[in-house]
Amino acid sequence: MTSKPLNKAAPRVIPLAQSGVQDQLQRPLHDLRISVTDKCNFRCTYCMPREIFGPEHEFLAQKQLLSFEEITRVASLAVNMGVRKIRLTGGEPLLRRHIEDLVHMLAQLRTVDGQPVELAMTTNGTLLAAKARALKQAGLQRVTVSLDALEDARFAHLSDSKVSVKQVLDGIETASVEGLFPVKVNMVVRKGLNDDQIVPMAEYFRHTPHILRFIEYMDVGNSNGWNLKEVLTGAEIVSRIHQHYPLEPVQANYKGEVAGRYRYLDGAGEVGMITSVSQPFCGDCSRIRLSPEGRFFLCLFASKGVDIRAPLRAGATDDVLAGLLAGTWRARQDRYSEIRGAVERSADKVEMSYIGG
Ligand code: GTP
Ligand code: 5AD
Ligand code: SF4
Ligand code: SF4
Repeated sequence: MTSKPLNKAAPRVIPLAQSGVQDQLQRPLHDLRISVTDKCNFRCTYCMPREIFGPEHEFLAQKQLLSFEEITRVASLAVNMGVRKIRLTGGEPLLRRHIEDLVHMLAQLRTVDGQPVELAMTTNGTLLAAKARALKQAGLQRVTVSLDALEDARFAHLSDSKVSVKQVLDGIETASVEGLFPVKVNMVVRKGLNDDQIVPMAEYFRHTPHILRFIEYMDVGNSNGWNLKEVLTGAEIVSRIHQHYPLEPVQANYKGEVAGRYRYLDGAGEVGMITSVSQPFCGDCSRIRLSPEGRFFLCLFASKGVDIRAPLRAGATDDVLAGLLAGTWRARQDRYSEIRGAVERSADKVEMSYIGG
């Protein structure tokens, strides 16, 4: 599986005073989302429209990216500060070469309670059938796969790629069979573009172990020309499914779960609604984001990050780096989705393809 020597050093321990850090709104730090690349083999129109992310677009160079050792060092500091869940994102994380080596390194980390860190990945699924076994063996626990339509022509239009729906579905099946379980499937809904796919998607994933989640189209980044008129709310989505397959709400699995859960009354499984626009969940936001070249972003809608790569490469000690992370989290008071209507929309928000959701 591995192609490079792995860093199996024991995770570092930092002073307990740094663990359990809270921000200005008393939110704890529990989740770390790590974007490992800004590249993707899709050009979803709401994320990387080809007019902007065309052949001229300059992606980050290899030397700008944090190495796996650097990522693991930062992650271990975050874990010692209370992080329990790590999610690898991109761009498309499976495009980062030898990503299973990073998975293996992160899988060695232990939370402050001595438990293995929960390790998941969000992917577009195109390379998943080929990679699922190696990822599982390396210690990945779960995957979430994006899929916005079941019809090939529609999917090709939305993802602006030649990849077939079958390729993604095969990725989902293989991941599930290999034990990356349960597979979650994310569908971003845009009124007039793919809302007719809601019921067919629900139908397709009923009676499977996979959990389909519908995401309200968000105004992330600056490239997608977002318009509120294209947002179909979670309540409207539930109501559409309910007409065919009756649903009832279910309690969250854990405080701060992003998706609201619903189950089919006939026992065919469950679906989730991610309602960042109509019912924001900032009050429980416990997520910090690490960009591919080593900047911490707090809110998904932030413009600026805090650089950790420079001190890291200048030889900063763990205490200094941990202090930087703790200070960044303690100062946090953003809650963009809750005040969306009241703030002027910034024109330099971080792009989704760079920060990974
Ligand atoms: P699990 O519940 O552990 O499976 O993970 P998750 O739902 O946090 O992860 P996923 O990457 O699948 O996120 C689902 C969607 O929710 C993506 O579109 C994310 O961009 C969005 N999302 C995740 N975290 C946040 C957040 O903090 N704020 C907003 N507004 N959206 C988020
Ligand atoms: N609004 C909602 N979801 C989005 N995603 C990407 N861009 C947007 C957007 N503007 C989704 C992807 C993926 C997840 C990480 O975020 O489809 O499932
Ligand atoms: Fe790639 Fe995901 Fe963005 Fe689509 S939404 S272009 S799959 S990073
Ligand atoms: Fe957290 Fe910002 Fe998302 Fe609110 S909008 S849940 S603060 S990332």
